[in-house]
Amino acid sequence: MVGLAVTIVRCIGILAVLSPFGSTIAGQVQKPSLQVPSSALQHREDVKDIFIESYNAYRKFAFGHDDLLPVTKNFSDGRNGWGASIVDGMATMQIMGLDDFFNEAVNFVGKIDLSESKTSDAVRQVISTRRTARRF
Ligand SMILES: *[C@@H]1O[C@H](CO)[C@@H](O)[C@H](O)[C@H]1NC(C)=O
Repeated sequence: MVGLAVTIVRCIGILAVLSPFGSTIAGQVQKPSLQVPSSALQHREDVKDIFIESYNAYRKFAFGHDDLLPVTKNFSDGRNGWGASIVDGMATMQIMGLDDFFNEAVNFVGKIDLSESKTSDAVRQVISTRRTARRF
């Protein structure tokens, strides 16, 4: 499991290099003459706020499960119940500089038991292993 966490962190590191939000290890990525509208900074903050609000709802009602069901404030586990939303969100957390979420996610990912599915047998039969593996 540590191997998976390390792989994810490596992938996120690559994304962070390309990030308009922070790291500039790779140097100039965008066209130097690119003009962004003056509202871009505000839009960036708005997107970050929406992510924080949404992820906090996931944390409150569905943490550790695959997906939040926002209307019923419940969860679903269509991807083996390994916390797919956490894994999916890690690159975003890193790019947005949300270190508390990211560190919580790294800690969670290191404890996923990939040998045990929490998805019901009926659902599991329909979901291909390949699709799940791609997501993780
Ligand atoms: C929430 O979802 C779980 C898993 O599908 C289900 O077992 C449980 O009954 C649901 N709880 C509520 C309050 O709907």
